[in-house]
Amino acid sequence: MARTAFVLNGPNLNLLGKREPTIYGHETLADVEASCRATGATLGLEIRFHQSNREYELIDWIHEAREAACGIVINPAAFTHTSVAIHDALAMCDFPILEVHISNIHKREAFRHHSYVSSLASGVIAGFGTQGYVLALHRLATLVVA
Ligand code: DQA
Repeated sequence: MARTAFVLNGPNLNLLGKREPTIYGHETLADVEASCRATGATLGLEIRFHQSNREYELIDWIHEAREAACGIVINPAAFTHTSVAIHDALAMCDFPILEVHISNIHKREAFRHHSYVSSLASGVIAGFGTQGYVLALHRLATLVVA
């Protein structure tokens, strides 16, 4: 039976492709979802892919993942830098958490340098563009068979 991985995306990522393309590129979130599903198929991972602009929806999916998933790949977007609630939800997960940022948050404004998620993450990928999601899924697959 395929294991399940959640890929969660925070606010404004629904506008990927249109949103500040010089920073985030031209791929849409649908393109990212398609890459994640294709990668999941090669890795034996069933992908549940979600995006929301609402903090509580991301928290509810993290709770769902606790019951159903072998790991989470998450780009919390702006909630990375603000959300104790997402930190607390992830702290209840006892599987690998891979944090992804399309841009290199460390090269940008100082307020993007702190993440409430990184202290809980098995790994962090930033600045690899949308390819970061695919790399994170490969890492997740390695961690869950190890
Ligand atoms: C982001 C970086 C965050 O600082 C920003 O708020 C985002 C996207 C990224 O993928 O590079 O919305 O998480």
